[in-house]
Amino acid sequence: MATVVEHYEKHLAAYYSWLFGDFSAAVESNRQFFILHKLLPGKSNIAIDLGAGCGFGSIALAKLGFKVLAFDLSQTLLDELKSKSGNLEITPIKDNILNFTAHCPEGVELCVCMGDTLTHLESFDDARHLFADVYNSVRTGGKFVLVFRDYIFELKDTDRFIPVKSDSNTIFTCFIEYFEGYVLVNDIVYSRTPQGWKLDVSSYKKLRIPADWVRRELIELGFTITFFTKDKGMITLIACKNN
Ligand SMILES: C[S@@+](CC[C@H](N)C(=O)[O-])C[C@H]1O[C@@H](n2cnc3c(N)ncnc32)[C@H](O)[C@@H]1O
Repeated sequence: MATVVEHYEKHLAAYYSWLFGDFSAAVESNRQFFILHKLLPGKSNIAIDLGAGCGFGSIALAKLGFKVLAFDLSQTLLDELKSKSGNLEITPIKDNILNFTAHCPEGVELCVCMGDTLTHLESFDDARHLFADVYNSVRTGGKFVLVFRDYIFELKDTDRFIPVKSDSNTIFTCFIEYFEGYVLVNDIVYSRTPQGWKLDVSSYKKLRIPADWVRRELIELGFTITFFTKDKGMITLIACKNN
């Protein structure tokens, strides 16, 4: 089994934006989401993107006028983010999201942790630590957006094989195994080479985080949940710091 960093650097990062198809469309979809929920720059203009990947969230935020600090551990994805972000005000920072406060200015308006980054953490204690750091970093009235996959519901038998994406050169399949508190995600890639099809497999752990647990933890810290939805297995939650 690979660590998260190994999994991304040696395996997934090379395919990540390909898996999503049209890069601009993914950015635009996030931009529309932020507009819809009135997550727009105010006084400080500072937004934090936790687990920014190739920049689908960071670029959307910067296009809306935020100054974005984009945290990730994958140099490959941060390089892609940099190459796609032109003159937008995005600072890529290669560090663990659990250390984000070390780089964080005061008066953060918005913190986002999207695209299932949350489940990549090693433990529920790490998630708790992250939530508390976000609470202490955002200003009063500041918001926290979380988007993560619900792995509580267990796929069975052959349904655990997910045909993620394919084209004439690449076939990407995911096989999920369920354990107490976590899943093992096996990313299986066949790529066409002059010598024939080449198989690469890498596996890593993701946490099975109940949405209700997240809600409770955030409310206990002093957040109010202003939006919650579950769509196609993805949970989206917006929390507001009241005082
Ligand atoms: C599923 S991707 C999501 C990327 C992006 N937020 C999106 O919506 O496309 C998860 C990202 O989180 C990063 N990541 C996972 N755990 C991390 C950690 N502890 N610290 C920093 N980055 C992390 C991975 O390298 C990867 O880029």
